[in-house]
Amino acid sequence: MMKKMTFLLSVMMFFMAQVYAQKESKTLVAYFSATGNTRTAAKEIAKQKKAVLWEIEPSEHYTAEDLNWRNKQSRTSKEMSDAEARPSIKQCTNIMPYDTIYVGSVRASSTRG
Ligand SMILES: Cc1cc2nc3c(=O)[nH]c(=O)nc-3n(C[C@H](O)[C@H](O)[C@H](O)COP(=O)(O)O)c2cc1C
Repeated sequence: MMKKMTFLLSVMMFFMAQVYAQKESKTLVAYFSATGNTRTAAKEIAKQKKAVLWEIEPSEHYTAEDLNWRNKQSRTSKEMSDAEARPSIKQCTNIMPYDTIYVGSVRASSTRG
């Protein structure tokens, strides 16, 4: 009787281990890149972490003129100085299935230059 119980317990533990192994954690790398540097880093992180890659794209494309952060009148300068600015994006993604999310963006703090 004891032997049977031990055997059954072992079988149950084996299947439980299989189920646990199948539930892999999912990782998302979400990024916004205007000129490609963040994209390169995001792709590398996604490759290393075996993550899903999501590029956050603006609804309205940023031109080189828009991106001139040294010009206080450029579109991005105005957006950065407006705390209420929420530029729309092309599409959202469902983040619920992910356990870990990396977020990458352009460095835009005006602390250099
Ligand atoms: C809108 C915008 C604002 C930026 N502001 C700054 C800044 O304040 N200080 C700085 O050192 N670099 C600034 N940069 C330069 C970016 O950090 C740098 O070009 C970065 O590589 C851009 O990333 P990306 O190639 O993924 O777009 C800015 C770039 C953009 C597009």
